[in-house]
Amino acid sequence: MTALSLPELLTTLRHTVGDTHVLTEGDLSAFEQDWRKRTRGKALAVVRPGNTAEVAAVVKACAQAGVSIVPQGGNTGLVVGSIPDDSGTQVLLSLQRMNAVRHIDAANLAITVEAGCVLQNLQQAAEQAGFLFPLSLGSEGSCTIGGNLGTNAGGTQVVRYGNTRELCLGLEVVSAQGEIWHGLSGLRKDNTGYDLRNLMIGSEGTLGIITAATMKLYPLPAAKLTAWAAVPSVAHAVELLGLAHLHLGAGLTGFEMMGQFALSLVDKHYPQLRVPLWQDTPYCVLLENSDTESEAHARERFEHVLELAFERGCVSDAVVAESLSQARNLWHIRDSITLAQAEEGLNIKHDISLPVSAIPEFVAQTDALLEKEIAGVRLVNFGHLGDGNLHYNVQAPEGSDNAEFLRTQEDRVNTLVYDTVKRFGGSISAEHGVGGLKVDTLPDYKDATALGLMRQIKQALDPQGILNPGRVVRLD
Ligand code: FAD
Ligand code: LAC
Ligand code: ZN
Repeated sequence: MTALSLPELLTTLRHTVGDTHVLTEGDLSAFEQDWRKRTRGKALAVVRPGNTAEVAAVVKACAQAGVSIVPQGGNTGLVVGSIPDDSGTQVLLSLQRMNAVRHIDAANLAITVEAGCVLQNLQQAAEQAGFLFPLSLGSEGSCTIGGNLGTNAGGTQVVRYGNTRELCLGLEVVSAQGEIWHGLSGLRKDNTGYDLRNLMIGSEGTLGIITAATMKLYPLPAAKLTAWAAVPSVAHAVELLGLAHLHLGAGLTGFEMMGQFALSLVDKHYPQLRVPLWQDTPYCVLLENSDTESEAHARERFEHVLELAFERGCVSDAVVAESLSQARNLWHIRDSITLAQAEEGLNIKHDISLPVSAIPEFVAQTDALLEKEIAGVRLVNFGHLGDGNLHYNVQAPEGSDNAEFLRTQEDRVNTLVYDTVKRFGGSISAEHGVGGLKVDTLPDYKDATALGLMRQIKQALDPQGILNPGRVVRLD
């Protein structure tokens, strides 16, 4: 096959998806700028296919031209994985136009959607059909299921329903050669060889382009109860989690911990949200109990947990939402921490996981280390404690220049935090992924054999290196 020149490639792309869906001019910042405003890339073109056959044709043309492709959904990723580099030679493949709900199979508790379907639209489609699609993230109004699968997103319901991976039954994928794998199975059991579905999930666009997915549905809960509790320490939060597991069982659907400084930022930037209890306690916990029986049953069990927690001193104060709108407001406060931090300025984000039992000691040691090393450092510690996943973020000292702080301190801070994570047997990314931000850090913390196997997989599936190069793992 003869190679395509760049002008020939652009002509082929226009012919494939239509002139109006190949963007090369005007304000492309929505596609080229990362959500955290850390990095800005420059695409050869933004290409917006309308169906799977078009995606396959785009990939074939890019392969023929030797041009690499960056798949993008909602561009809410936090690790610089969904924007082009600054070379002006990459195609930014936006899946946003492919957003249809293809099919709901009620008897099989499954829904099939295109990759560009916004998560909130998927949740709503499920609810309209009388089901729950449990994946829930602060970015759900703009992230897409393709991006959620690409990053194996977590969110706030993992403690009960698992990560995106656990919610997926099947995928449709375009390979690096432009072939279509029709894997939209609604099967819950299939042992016919290597698990390609799970290989694609979490591969951050480096092994294939997800064009559609079949996802699991669940019965809608009969009742949901939400409480916001002040806890005296991280160890007390872990004790409360133990009580919740013991007494709520599968009813425990959310368990989030938020540090005082994280909540102070929400209070500062969004005072209308009225953050409860934060001023007099180092940490708050948001916990949710979903019940398949009734509101009364849920309330009885929930109040029992809170009573035990008060007796043991692991909760010092608590509010229980009295209505759905109060519950929504409490979740909105939790989901606003990342936005409030963005308002406060550029910051260093960590997305770590540890055994839950190790978290109190990890936080004590890392807080002490950072406070000793960097006078005035501000720690924004919050996250999915129920899953052993903390967003242990670091903000520059009050009044200092955030960009300068990142430039001079980010590597040092990362080393201090990640070395401690490693000592405690944790991971440097629990849910946001590696992207371009951590690709050169990963080899210091990932098992060398595992990394070698990852390189072999990348080489086998994408020998030309055209799918999201420089993200997750480098071949050179
Ligand atoms: P993008 O940002 O567009 O892409 C993310 C990655 O997936 C990139 O590597 C991209 O190349 C790849 N990709 C995108 N689409 C495809 C596709 N169709 N096929 C193959 N690869 C693809 N993340 C969590 O896990 N938990 C949270 O609780 C959470 N909360 C957040 C809150 C806020 C306010 C924000 C801004 C982000 C949050 N995130 C969270 C991060 C982000 O929203 C998730 O990573 C999300 O899954 C990204 O979806 P997206 O559609 O925006 O993907
Ligand atoms: C959250 C994102 C940052 O949990 O993962 O809010
Ligand atoms: Zn998170």
